[in-house]
Amino acid sequence: MATEAQDLVAPLPPNTRGLDFTQALQTRSVAPATASAATSGPVVRTERLSIYYGNFCAVREVTLDVPLCQVTAIIGPSGCGKSTLLRAMNRMNDFIDGVRVSGRLLFNGQEVYGSVFDPVELRRRVGMVFQKPNPFPKSIFKNVAWGPAVNGYRGNLAELVEESLRKAALWEEVKDKLNKSALALSGGQQQRLCIARAIAMQPEVLLMDEPCSALDPIATARIEDLIDRLKTQYTVALVTHNMQQAARLSDRTAFMLMGELVEVDATSHLFTTPRDQRTQDYITGRFG
Ligand SMILES: Nc1ncnc2c1ncn2[C@@H]1O[C@H](COP(=O)(O)OP(=O)(O)O)[C@@H](O)[C@H]1O
Ligand SMILES: [Mg+2]
Repeated sequence: MATEAQDLVAPLPPNTRGLDFTQALQTRSVAPATASAATSGPVVRTERLSIYYGNFCAVREVTLDVPLCQVTAIIGPSGCGKSTLLRAMNRMNDFIDGVRVSGRLLFNGQEVYGSVFDPVELRRRVGMVFQKPNPFPKSIFKNVAWGPAVNGYRGNLAELVEESLRKAALWEEVKDKLNKSALALSGGQQQRLCIARAIAMQPEVLLMDEPCSALDPIATARIEDLIDRLKTQYTVALVTHNMQQAARLSDRTAFMLMGELVEVDATSHLFTTPRDQRTQDYITGRFG
């Protein structure tokens, strides 16, 4: 089991990085994307979206669709604007001083920036999981129950906590210690708890910014497995610096470079027959 999990996620040596995605592409489960995905518009769409930190343009005129019940991966070298773009999708950038946005962000076809769309409502419907697991220093139960409770959840909180922990594949490991501190869990368990916490808000979209990069290979394999199952119910946008992970997990991949979206395509196409030379150079490990 351990070696199997390790094989699944072991990074290739740097000089061969990206040369052969065949294996990673083959480990993907076959598309459970729902029928409605083909017929309805994207859940999230950025249209010529630019994001500035002061005068510095970190994301330049990006037009990207995040379709329903699929995993959309965003890849590219460090500093190319992946996190900035992802944070725009639930207006998390609003909390950073000096950020300016131009262009459009659409959520289920509705304009988000510069409209009456309530950012708090947006963040409830578009949840986020960060690179480093960040549970609250509270019990496991309270970590999951807190958000719905302060948002006036009227159902049975205990049931919601159990359901969320089950969906995050953590229930069996924590069901007998729900009142213990979340900080006593392992890194991988903490990250699954953070996913359960996001799920408890009953979002439509999950944004994940390198959710495995602080985890060991076995914990990584579990989270990847979880993401693969979550996409039957949720729309996922996943930032990853791990191209094998993008190839394994995602339906579509977007490649960014210096703030620009170079290319977006079905994952199987992007990693085998990219249209842009810069994508080709990146996936074959010539830079980044
Ligand atoms: N809060 C910030 N203030 C100023 N510049 C920032 C801030 N966050 C990120 N940047 C800059 O914006 C660019 C894109 O960053 P980021 O979105 O974090 O890239 P990535 O996630 O692809 O590594 C980088 O040049 C980074 O230094
Ligand atoms: Mg980042």
